[in-house]
Amino acid sequence: MNTICERLTQRFTQIYEGKKPTAYITVPGRVNLIGEHTDYNGLPVMPMAIARGIRIVLAPRGDALVHVTNAKAEFGTREFAVSKNIPPYVTGDWGNYIKSGAQGVIEAYASSQNGMLGFDALIDSDLPMAAGLSSSSALVVASALALMAANGIPLERTSLAEQMAAAERYVGTMGGGMDQAVILLAQADSALKIDFYPLRTQSVTLPEGYSVVICNSLVVAPKTEAARLNYNRRPLECHLATALLAHHMSTTGGSAVQAERMADLLRYKNVRRLLALAADYLGEGPWTREKAAAELNMTISQLEQRFFLMRDGQILPEYPEGMPLLQRVRHVLTEGERVEASLTALAAGDAHAFGRLMHESHASCRDLYGISCPELEQLVDAARKAGAVGARLTGAGFGGCTVNLVANDKVAEFKEQVVKVYYEGYLHTHKPALYQTFAENDPESMVIVSTPADGAVINQLS
Ligand code: GLA
Repeated sequence: MNTICERLTQRFTQIYEGKKPTAYITVPGRVNLIGEHTDYNGLPVMPMAIARGIRIVLAPRGDALVHVTNAKAEFGTREFAVSKNIPPYVTGDWGNYIKSGAQGVIEAYASSQNGMLGFDALIDSDLPMAAGLSSSSALVVASALALMAANGIPLERTSLAEQMAAAERYVGTMGGGMDQAVILLAQADSALKIDFYPLRTQSVTLPEGYSVVICNSLVVAPKTEAARLNYNRRPLECHLATALLAHHMSTTGGSAVQAERMADLLRYKNVRRLLALAADYLGEGPWTREKAAAELNMTISQLEQRFFLMRDGQILPEYPEGMPLLQRVRHVLTEGERVEASLTALAAGDAHAFGRLMHESHASCRDLYGISCPELEQLVDAARKAGAVGARLTGAGFGGCTVNLVANDKVAEFKEQVVKVYYEGYLHTHKPALYQTFAENDPESMVIVSTPADGAVINQLS
């Protein structure tokens, strides 16, 4: 038993009055190296699991209650009964991620189980929250694995990854499947190239002599608040752009084009031709809902029901600046290509070629997909000046972390420079509240060097 497990076991026994945990589960966070906002469009991503994550000890109960204590006292405890439809807590409550994982397991396995048993658990995490390192998906997967362990349900990782991607929509984010897949399927020492629909993974070796360094901008982007709408806006706009392109291709090409996701359009035209057609048809300017509805022969309300309805029954508000559909399409299609090109560059051990692709990805995320922010720009800039071969924002965007590729012998200097320029320089002068967070924390938790870690591990405790 390692020391974390021992410590959690002891506390578990105190909290649950002498009860002993039966399983210890570790669930990593992840950092995405390249392939941003491609997953829900059916195009590939390239993330890796990191050494930080969630740890949970648990024991089954004799009834249907799930009782989770968070080792960080400020989060408190959460208790609910497993049932067919678990009612959510208020939006933003961390317990919704636990409910989300449990609900997903019930939906996938309840018919083969006669009423599931709940569990008592103690959970701890060393992942920064809302920082683009997948703390939310790690919690969802941890909860699912705990419920499965409590009920003796065997683990099939690929199907669970797919189930959890769907289950996480319980919290209202319309994410793709990258996070759950890497969290469950990663193996130490390699990154993964992941393809979707169906889910497939391929391990990727990172260039020798280089480290992956993660820097936290300290701008939090909680998926449950404004960032949730900012995030959801993108899959919804991509869905609409896909439908418009399919409609146009059907009416001008003479035969029906079926496309659920943007990647499906590539069955009809290659990337270059599709981009040319999109430029021609969608045009550079923004689209309004009115224009899209007219194009698709729908009323605005039909369009909204079909393309802008979110899980909570709300229609995504219309943004006054309209929808930059061509820019969204350009980002997604070229980002998919960059993932493939990265695979080639990494197979050849070419760190510099991969670094250039990371830079292009960052520019595309910023200029075409609109998911950067001033702090991420400063941090990426500081990283490049401090010697990173590649530097880009990672994850959903709107804050969170950057991911950097740095030569091993430059890591110490890189860290020192970034701390000086971004945290002690930019934040200190321009963002006092964020600087305060930096000053109150250990710099080691702001700039994290991580080798690719294992996916989730379930240890039975006897
Ligand atoms: C979030 C989502 C993922 C993916 C990324 C952006 O992390 O959960 O599915 O879309 O954003 O690449």
